[in-house]
Amino acid sequence: MRQIVVTGGGTGIGRAVAEAFAARGDQVVITGRRRSVLDRTAAELGDRVRAVAFDASDPEQVEAALAALPPQVDVLVNNAGGNTDIGAAPPSGLAGVAAAWRANLDANVLSAVLVTTALRPRLAAGGAVVSVSSIAAHRGGSGSYGSAKAAVEAWNLTLAQELGKDRITANVVAPGYVESTEFFQDAMTPQRRAALLAQTANGRAGTPTDIAETVLFLASSAASHLTGQTLHVNGGALAGR
Ligand SMILES: NC(=O)c1ccc[n+]([C@@H]2O[C@H](COP(=O)([O-])OP(=O)(O)OC[C@H]3O[C@@H](n4cnc5c(N)ncnc54)[C@H](OP(=O)(O)O)[C@@H]3O)[C@@H](O)[C@H]2O)c1
Repeated sequence: MRQIVVTGGGTGIGRAVAEAFAARGDQVVITGRRRSVLDRTAAELGDRVRAVAFDASDPEQVEAALAALPPQVDVLVNNAGGNTDIGAAPPSGLAGVAAAWRANLDANVLSAVLVTTALRPRLAAGGAVVSVSSIAAHRGGSGSYGSAKAAVEAWNLTLAQELGKDRITANVVAPGYVESTEFFQDAMTPQRRAALLAQTANGRAGTPTDIAETVLFLASSAASHLTGQTLHVNGGALAGR
């Protein structure tokens, strides 16, 4: 039975990832900042899923959470994150710009780097680290969020080199537009949704399950020679290179 840690596992894509691993018999820890959300999700997903609440971008909270995380981790899924500009007021002045950029870098880059670094001694040989980036890293329009996700992809190359000696893979999944998550809050309009779907080859939005199935594959023995890569899961909205 493998031990899985899914950051941001209380909602959306992370929840679907946790559900998929648990359905295959793995033990899963889901993490996030909101304990009530995590507890509800863990209760709904069953005995194989338990919750540990902490802010993945806060070094002290990550350190403090270690005692509650598994002593051996076979698969780490760095899924926590989101676009912190959504729902925020436009930044005012350079200090505001700096704060807005730091928020996205904290939420998306530091969260993955800190949790991976903290769990590095516990990563089992033959295991996998999968981090969630975004189509936003590969096209314009989302400023600091896309830049933060691009940084995750660049960091993943170093991570793959460092982990390879222990036969641990490190890969990134870059989703396109995925519905049924908390990501967009109230920011999605019918017009924007239609435009996003029109960009795809298959005419539909992604689902959390689409991403979860790709994560499962990357964490499987079938993908043991696949490392340092970014897999695009976007219905053909953008060609991966
Ligand atoms: N939905 C899309 O269209 C889309 C497309 C491309 C990429 N993505 C990426 O996919 C990932 C999952 O997003 P989603 O769409 O499933 O949205 P979501 O439902 O908002 O999930 C994000 C999760 O991350 C957690 N989280 C955020 N910041 C955190 C922090 N500092 N520490 C711990 N947990 C944190 C949130 O829980 P708490 O608030 O309780 O902490 C939440 O459960 C994100 O990295 C996002 O950037 C999404």
